[in-house]
Amino acid sequence: MSKIAGIVLCAGRGVRMNSERSKMLHEIAGVPICVWPVEVLSTVAQSENIVAVVGFQAKQVQEAIAARFPRTNFAVQSEQKGTGDAVKIGISQIPKSAETILVIGGDTPLLTKESLNQLLKSQKDSGAKVAMFVTEQDKPFGYGRIVRDIDGQVSCIVEEKDATIEQRKIAEVNSGIYAFDGDFLRQEILHVTNANAQGEFYLTDLIQRARELFGSKAIVTQMISKEEAAGVNDRIQLSECEYAMRQRINQGWMRHGVTMVDPSATYIDAKVILRTDVTLHAGVTLQGTTRIERNVIIGEGCVVTDSLIGEGAHLHPYSVIEGAMVGKNANVGPFARLRAGSVLEEATRVGNFVEMKKTTLKRGSKANHLAYLGDATIGENCNIGAGTITCNYDGYKKYQTIIGDGSFIGSNSTLVAPVVIGEQSYVGAGSTVTKDVPSDALALSRARQENKLGYASSMREKLKTKK
Ligand code: UD1
Ligand code: MG
Repeated sequence: MSKIAGIVLCAGRGVRMNSERSKMLHEIAGVPICVWPVEVLSTVAQSENIVAVVGFQAKQVQEAIAARFPRTNFAVQSEQKGTGDAVKIGISQIPKSAETILVIGGDTPLLTKESLNQLLKSQKDSGAKVAMFVTEQDKPFGYGRIVRDIDGQVSCIVEEKDATIEQRKIAEVNSGIYAFDGDFLRQEILHVTNANAQGEFYLTDLIQRARELFGSKAIVTQMISKEEAAGVNDRIQLSECEYAMRQRINQGWMRHGVTMVDPSATYIDAKVILRTDVTLHAGVTLQGTTRIERNVIIGEGCVVTDSLIGEGAHLHPYSVIEGAMVGKNANVGPFARLRAGSVLEEATRVGNFVEMKKTTLKRGSKANHLAYLGDATIGENCNIGAGTITCNYDGYKKYQTIIGDGSFIGSNSTLVAPVVIGEQSYVGAGSTVTKDVPSDALALSRARQENKLGYASSMREKLKTKK
């Protein structure tokens, strides 16, 4: 493995994206585009032997890659003079011992490790100076065309802008993924010139060079699917790659025992983990570092980000969950919102229009409808009535509400934090609680009800005759 090195070209801006952000930072399944080729390279080369060439928004691109692969090396191409120039800069950081150097465009997210291994094998078996992936495109516009001689041997690659009308009709195109003989690349990259229509240093010129120096055996081509070869150059290609990647991810999870009612409308980020017998209904989005345990059911339209959902839990439709932990057999939603730091222990229930933030709901407790629970610790087997609000914020600071085990908070209660409500206590409906409530007490803080008997009919008479 130490003999294999890789260069990922990530310095370009990606003008065709029409974006202020580097093309490399746009995401596919929640992962920046440029991280995907580094990831696939890391399956065949050690991270220390991988160089990412950065340029436009270099700092951000470098951070995006280093966040996932901290041992990757970086080389800076301050002016984007072409792929040949980028490789020349990148190669300075590749160990001399590397016998094979893989080169991939940072905008090629769908390449698989199986294909990459095939490319390595064909380079090794043939002893060619360069093995490269080619594909047939119905619309080859924009790609480098593979020009073959009458014997069918590759003679060169011609870029769109340099191609003749005849050459532009060639459907066989370069995918921008290559396995080079290390010595050949180190030597010949120094001689690439920019004598072409774009005034750029083309890496692709090395194909012709290999042919001239070593004959037709110096180049081997391997077919690759259009999907794997796809480069992201504009937002349409971005959406196509996103779709293809999502399908790949979804099919992977279905094979692992996840049921998807509508895989075309199920959005699972690359880093999400699911266990068997999970059921996902249409429109579910699972993001970031989310992990879903066995037998969980997630209803229509739920969005779950960076959260852990425990075994047997049921998320009812349209619940939005971020940075939360949902315990075993808990029930959430429909229309619940769990924000960062929400912890629902086993067998808890959080119903419709309940918002929680930095709040722990201990085992068996319920907040079935319409509540805001922020900065609170709620004991076991409590009942939080509809309309309960923890007033946790005074405009400057946040304060805690603590509710003991077995307490019952009546509907429409306002709990003004900091406040402690003891175990097994009651808060009467409609109360505003500003003082701590001892255990086993009933807290009431509402106007006492007065009934005026027969008052309604006499009032009606008075109102009727009123001028
Ligand atoms: C390139 C190939 C083309 C191939 C296509 C496949 C060349 C000259 N052309 O064209 O034959 O069909 O990829 O997708 O190689 N980059 C740098 N520094 C630069 C220029 C580019 O790092 O100075 C990076 C870009 O960020 C990108 C990659 O190299 O990730 C490819 O560059 P791009 O401009 O997309 O090349 P294409 O026109 O797609
Ligand atoms: Mg490209």
